Amino acid sequence: MLEFTEKQKLLIRKFKDNELKRLNVLEGSVRSGKTWISLILWAAWVASRPKDYLYMMCAKSLQTLKRNCLLPLQDLVGENNFTFSLSTKEGVLFGRKIMLEGANDKRSENKIRGITLGGAYCDELTLFPKDFFTMLLSRLSTPRAKLIATTNPDVPTHWLLTDYLNNANLADDIFRMFFGIDDNTTLDPEYVKALKKEYTGVYYDRFILGLWVVAAGAIYKIFSDKPASYRITADKLPHFDYINIGLDFGGNGSSHALSATALTHDFKLLYSLKHERIPAKNMSPLDLYGRVYRFCEAIIKKYGKITALYADSAEQTLIAGLRVYLKPLGVVVKNALKREINDRIFATTILMAADRYRMIPEECESLSNAFKGAVWDEKVSSESRLDDGTSDIDSLDSFEYSWERYIPRMIKEF
Ligand SMILES: Nc1ncnc2c1ncn2[C@@H]1O[C@H](COP(=O)(O)OP(=O)(O)OP(=O)(O)O)[C@@H](O)[C@H]1O
Ligand SMILES: [Mg+2]
Repeated sequence: MLEFTEKQKLLIRKFKDNELKRLNVLEGSVRSGKTWISLILWAAWVASRPKDYLYMMCAKSLQTLKRNCLLPLQDLVGENNFTFSLSTKEGVLFGRKIMLEGANDKRSENKIRGITLGGAYCDELTLFPKDFFTMLLSRLSTPRAKLIATTNPDVPTHWLLTDYLNNANLADDIFRMFFGIDDNTTLDPEYVKALKKEYTGVYYDRFILGLWVVAAGAIYKIFSDKPASYRITADKLPHFDYINIGLDFGGNGSSHALSATALTHDFKLLYSLKHERIPAKNMSPLDLYGRVYRFCEAIIKKYGKITALYADSAEQTLIAGLRVYLKPLGVVVKNALKREINDRIFATTILMAADRYRMIPEECESLSNAFKGAVWDEKVSSESRLDDGTSDIDSLDSFEYSWERYIPRMIKEF
C-alpha cells in the first residue's frame, strides 16, 4: 500500500481538483520526494488521456531516465502496466505509447522535431539544454497537453527560472510546487541529518534549502574556516589501498602541480599525502620529468607504492615522454579523466563536510593555500571557479586528477 507524505497528498489533491496547468514543475531540495510523486502523477494523468496520442519521458540521458524514473515507475505501477525498452527507446504505460529520450543526446532534438505530443515528463529539468526544452514545448500541441517536470534549483539566471518559472507572461500556464527535504517524512531522520551535514555553502542553500542562488565567495569555506581540523600526521594514517598522483601541466604564466592522495579500500577516506607546485617558467620538459620522478620516488620510499599517475590529458606529448621517464620506478601514467569541475568541487566539499578528508599539512602547504584562496567566479552565469591567475587552480586540478575516477564509488550522489 502506497503512503504519501503530506506534500505529496496536497499535490494529488490539486491534480484531482483540476488545478494543474500546461507546465507543472515540482522543485526543491534533494530527496524531498519530487520524483516519486511525479511518477505517480504522470501515470495517473496519462491513464486518463487518449490512447492514440504519443507521450514522452526524458531525463538528461537515457541511463539516468532508466535509473531515476523508468525502474521506479515500473515498481510503482507494476510490470503489467508499464514496460519499456531502452534499445527501441519506447515504453507502454497503461496502453499508451511513451517515447523515451535523453535530452543531452544531440540527435534527440532532431527526433522530436515535427512530432505531436499528448504529454511530456522531464526529470531534473535544469540539466536539459534549453533548445531541447523549447522544442519539446512546441511539440505539446494536442488539446490539454501537459508537461510534468521535477528539478533542483540552479543559478538565479538559469533559463528555466528566467524564461519560464518567473516569466509573468506565462504565469497562467505554470503550476509550481516546492518540496523541502523535511517534507519527505518517509526518510530516516538520521539519514536526513547526515545529508544536511554533507552539503555546505551554495550546495546547502540550493540542495537542502532548495533556493535558486548564485555561488559566491570562498569555495572551500568549510576548509578555510578550520584548516587545523583536517590535519593528520603520517604516523596516524590508516592502512590504505590506493595511492595516486595527479599532475597538472602549467603554461608559461602558471605552475605545474603534483598531488599525492591515498584512499582506503572502502572508498571512505581520502588523504592528501604530499603536494608540490613548480613554477613553469623557463622549465624544460626534462627538468619537469626530473621533479616528477623525485616526487614519485619519495612517495614510493615512504608508502611503498603508487597505484597510478594521472596527468592532464591535453598534453599528450609531455605524457608520452613522462611514461618513458618514469618506467624505472614502475609508475603507470594515465590520462586524467577530467570530470566536470563542478562535480569535482562538489565531491571535495562533501568529503570535507562528512569528515572524510585529511591532509598532512607540512607536506601540502601549497594545496592548503589553494583551498583557502579558491573563490567562485561571480561574473559568469553558470557555476565556475575563478581562474584569473589570482588563485592556484593548478594545485586544485592536480589534487582532483589524483582521485576523481573513484568519485562514483566514493559518493552515492554520482
Ligand atoms: N511516499 C513515499 N513512500 C515511500 N518512499 C518514498 C515516498 N516518497 C519518496 N520516497 C523515497 O524517498 C527517496 C527520495 O525521493 P525522490 O527520489 O522522489 O526525491 P527527489 O525530490 O526526486 O530528490 P532528488 O532531487 O535528489 O532527485 C526515494 O528513495 C523515494 O523512493
Ligand atoms: Mg528526483
